[in-house]
Amino acid sequence: MDTSTQKTTYSHRAPTGSTMRAVEYDHYGDASTLHMAERPVPRRLPGQLLIEVVASSVNPIDYRFRRGDLKGIVPFGFPRVPGYDVAGFVVETDSGSGFAVGDRVMAFLDHTRGGALADYAVCAVASAAKIPDSMPMDEAAAIPLAGSTALQSLRNHGKIKPGQTVLINGASGGVGMFAVQLAKAYGCHVDAVASAKNREFCMSLGADHFYDYEQDDFTKSRERWDIIFDVAGKAHYLAARAVLKEGGHFVSTEPNIEGMLVTILTWPLSKSGQVMLAVPAGDDLRELIRLYELGALRVTIDSQFRFEEAADAHRRVETGVEHGKVVLINSQTI
Ligand SMILES: NC(=O)c1ccc[n+]([C@@H]2O[C@H](COP(=O)([O-])OP(=O)(O)OC[C@H]3O[C@@H](n4cnc5c(N)ncnc54)[C@H](OP(=O)(O)O)[C@@H]3O)[C@@H](O)[C@H]2O)c1
Repeated sequence: MDTSTQKTTYSHRAPTGSTMRAVEYDHYGDASTLHMAERPVPRRLPGQLLIEVVASSVNPIDYRFRRGDLKGIVPFGFPRVPGYDVAGFVVETDSGSGFAVGDRVMAFLDHTRGGALADYAVCAVASAAKIPDSMPMDEAAAIPLAGSTALQSLRNHGKIKPGQTVLINGASGGVGMFAVQLAKAYGCHVDAVASAKNREFCMSLGADHFYDYEQDDFTKSRERWDIIFDVAGKAHYLAARAVLKEGGHFVSTEPNIEGMLVTILTWPLSKSGQVMLAVPAGDDLRELIRLYELGALRVTIDSQFRFEEAADAHRRVETGVEHGKVVLINSQTI
């Protein structure tokens, strides 16, 4: 669907009753479990914003939760409203919060349960950031979780510095496309790994060199990297260690047992390995917005769906996007 109208005339709308429309699921299962429902409007507590949601996006964690992949780790009841990314308008806030009713914002929701695919969502003031008029809502919705993951992986875990060599394994997806651009913006030489169909896309993001993972195994390369960011969660620390420079960092997004052990056992070593967990931070969103305004960070949208089509949006991410992010639009706001 064409949502270029998101830039124009719509203004915010506060809740008119105690319920709202939301996408929910009430048991684990495939994407067909997602359906529209009436849910209570979430109650805003002091220190929080109530946001009218205009757009959201799908991250792999959304379908992993929906399928029950993480039920042993994060058990909680049903029904659940999926989604962590929000772009929309502030409709309620404390005075002195730094936000005002009507502000255009993005947020990385700080509730384990998600809650973005609804007319309204709440989050801590510290998990949101104002967005500039130049940023359309659909692009804003693509940034929070994936952009924060890329930024925190490279900066907090990878300790990125200008002039370093960085390899992004899984460079064409939601997280990878931000990681390539961030590493370039921070003055690094960047090598990108994805499938051959995404060579042009990765080079257009600014990558200096491309590896097709079906043809080349980067761990057998003669190159050496300061940071290997395994976005795809397909590499192994011990193999990657062979191509890390002294003092280098291997960062993975995959929170499995192997990754946890590597994180614990390798922290004192000169070539460390870490599993990262992205956390909501308004300051990180502001850094991503700063780079967007400078033209150093652009957002590629793979496809757009309405909230009513959430099942198709999940299927699209689950079966592999072409490149970039899958965005969901709240049709009530168009
Ligand atoms: N720990 C955290 O806090 C956190 C946060 C965000 C995401 N994640 C995880 O990070 C992963 C990526 O998320 P995403 O949103 O970027 O997913 P995505 O949009 O589906 O992108 C996946 C990327 O991996 C690439 N890929 C697939 N198979 C590969 C292989 N064998 N070797 C190298 N690259 C391969 C894909 O390239 P092609 O399409 O060209 O095959 C694509 O670039 C997911 O598993 C997600 O759960 C974790």
